[in-house]
Amino acid sequence: MQRLQGMHVVVGVAGSIAAYRACDVVRGLRAQGALVRVAPTKNAQAFVTPLLFEALSGRPCLLTSLDVDQGRIPHVEEAYQAGVVVVCPASADVLAKMAAGFADEAILSLLLSFRGPLIIAPAMETQMWEHPATQTNVATLRARGAVFIGPVVGPLASGRTGQGRLAEVDDVVEAVVAALSPKDFNGKRVLVTAGPTVEDLDPVRSLTNRSSGKMGVMVARELALRGALVDVVHGPLKVPLPNTPGLRGIPVRSAQEMAEAVFAGAADVDIAILAAAVADFTPRTVAPQKIKKSSGPPVVELVPTTDILFTLGQSQRSLVLVGFAAETEDVERRAHDKRERKGCALVIGNDVSAAGSGFDVDTNRVFLARDPLRGASMWLPQLSKEEAAVAIVDELRTLLP
Ligand code: PMT
Repeated sequence: MQRLQGMHVVVGVAGSIAAYRACDVVRGLRAQGALVRVAPTKNAQAFVTPLLFEALSGRPCLLTSLDVDQGRIPHVEEAYQAGVVVVCPASADVLAKMAAGFADEAILSLLLSFRGPLIIAPAMETQMWEHPATQTNVATLRARGAVFIGPVVGPLASGRTGQGRLAEVDDVVEAVVAALSPKDFNGKRVLVTAGPTVEDLDPVRSLTNRSSGKMGVMVARELALRGALVDVVHGPLKVPLPNTPGLRGIPVRSAQEMAEAVFAGAADVDIAILAAAVADFTPRTVAPQKIKKSSGPPVVELVPTTDILFTLGQSQRSLVLVGFAAETEDVERRAHDKRERKGCALVIGNDVSAAGSGFDVDTNRVFLARDPLRGASMWLPQLSKEEAAVAIVDELRTLLP
């Protein structure tokens, strides 16, 4: 799914050892469908040639404030067209010039004409980052609305390790996607569960299931991109949790831990979406030592876990509660049955035995089991989990007061 289809993004590049990583940012933005224009400073051009940026972006670079193209001033035109500007990497020098309003580089002139979202990914030596002059400039830019991504702690060009390393390329691209996403969930607090739970039998064995966490993570990410503050209570995931602004992971292991984390976090949320595959049963006791094969096949007594969704449905009447239903047959009837029994506004049914649907695949085919008073329920076509998440969140929008 291309999240930036046809959107104009300017990438300002400052002179820094990390300038080469701007190439991957340009590629990442283009992979999302963005129309990218690179504006490297004179110092950046000493690290990476404009030729490379032009080849990667497919468009000429903005090299100086003195360019005129058929009577038009490119850096001014681009300032009006751009949906977002990202400065990556931003050196201490460029931060200072941005804060002071200098215009002696194409990117700096452009920024003075630009009124949209500005994302800054700094990279420099720790001492430079921590210097009061730099921190004052950062505070000035933050106060004007700039969003900072990083710098992170890691190995630096000097051979030292500390804060000052450029953020990961994916995190910079994700910040651009967030900046250009609609903000129809601004101010909403959301709790999402994702992934499997793990019920230990002994120190080395456990009962779990095939959930990867992809579906729940995609729903959480979509909500965060659209402005919500999202806590994801998740079991062990097979996918990384994206660093989407507004998204926070709360790792747990067992159904009991998930229940405790959800009940602790649910008090002040507007929406809860329970996509985790929670164990319905857990061993009554966990053997303190590895169960020995020589003792013969163990008899494991299982006891029911807390039904988190049902409990929330009983207690949180002001909450928009959404459940999932993993079914292998009779999906529509069972999803409706769960919606009514568990007090949900919506249940997302999925046939987990169908090819390309359910556990641990990148696609899903879901059934929106709606309250009949709110409209007819419907199947969506098979979609990527990212696309399914967009459709689920669009549906959720209609449920908000
Ligand atoms: O993680 P993926 O690999 O991407 O796969 C996605 C998925 C198939 C796991 C997901 O789409 C899904 O269907 N999640 C729900 C799985 C499930 O446990 O379904 P269920 O029908 O057993 O449970 C119904 C609902 O009750 C779910 O919202 C579940 O989170 C919740 N539940 C279940 C048991 C329990 N003890 N507490 C609960 O809250």
